Amino acid sequence: MTPEIRKAAEILRAGGLVAFPTETVYGLGADASNARAVARLYAVKGRPLDHPVIVHFAHAEKAFSWGGDLPPAARTLAASFWPGPLTLIVARSPRAGHFVTGGQDTIGLRVPSHPVAQELLRAFADGIAAPSANRFGFVSPTTAAHVRKDLGADVDLILEGGASEIGIESTIVDLSAGKAVLLRPGAISREDLELALNATVEQKGASSTVRHSGGLERHYAPHTPARLVATHALDKEIALRPAKIAVLAFSRPDERVDFWLRMPRDPAAYAQKLYASLRELDEAGCELILIESPPDAPEWAAILDRLKRACND
Ligand code: TXA
Ligand code: MG
Repeated sequence: MTPEIRKAAEILRAGGLVAFPTETVYGLGADASNARAVARLYAVKGRPLDHPVIVHFAHAEKAFSWGGDLPPAARTLAASFWPGPLTLIVARSPRAGHFVTGGQDTIGLRVPSHPVAQELLRAFADGIAAPSANRFGFVSPTTAAHVRKDLGADVDLILEGGASEIGIESTIVDLSAGKAVLLRPGAISREDLELALNATVEQKGASSTVRHSGGLERHYAPHTPARLVATHALDKEIALRPAKIAVLAFSRPDERVDFWLRMPRDPAAYAQKLYASLRELDEAGCELILIESPPDAPEWAAILDRLKRACND
């Protein structure tokens, strides 16, 4: 164990906050058994108290000890995708306090694969509550520098782990109601889940009453107003805008535009760069961000979901 990981585990045990890298985005960690530490976590994030937080573990066995009655699908999905970018919602066990479940009877469990996250979780040896390490509602951090910029002195320690490989938050599947429901798409697609389960996975309906912040319409959003624009309409939109604009697109820069970022056509590469790019566009001092819509295809579903939320103003 490195001295830094040891120190991080000690800070968590003392009720402190440690930001750490995961393969999806950076998390803001607190001891999931410590109500005061979790309360501080919510305060720093500016997160409403009734929004549950995901609890992270080093391995499935430990994770499931925080769950109550486990459906077989939980073990199947854990065996297929953990450690990795998947969060499972299951009934909670009495070990899981109301302060991590947002007062609900379910708990979100995740086993991340990032080596630094794994080291920290093994050193701490129990559940670490960790939402994304940004202020509530804004763009998630994918580097330690993003966390420093967003939360700075409010965090006791920030562990460095390079740029997150996946770049968007974990896929969330709710298994608590006798079926599998996709609450938040991610790098693990609905099709991947269905293949592993050999069953259909429902898409979260509009009538869902489960409180999860990724379900809010405006979330993962830059400060600058942003709009999603179809490829064929991009040129016209640019011509129409007298204001200083920033564009995120697949095509080459247009000279009429003040700030232009070109994105990869491969969805995994796009996701990896997405949040760092939104932050860059946000800092360009423009009045509007135009985002070229990616294709309406299953492999772009998670990205489209985040872009729609970033644009909902
Ligand atoms: O990739 C990720 O999942 C990252 C990294 C740090 O692990 N974490 C993350 O956490 O995105 P957060 O808190 O920003 O988003 C977690 C989502 C929220 O929308 C939360 O409400 C939902 O998971 N969630 C957690 N527990 C839940 C539960 N019991 N029922 C429904 N939704 C839940
Ligand atoms: Mg978040």
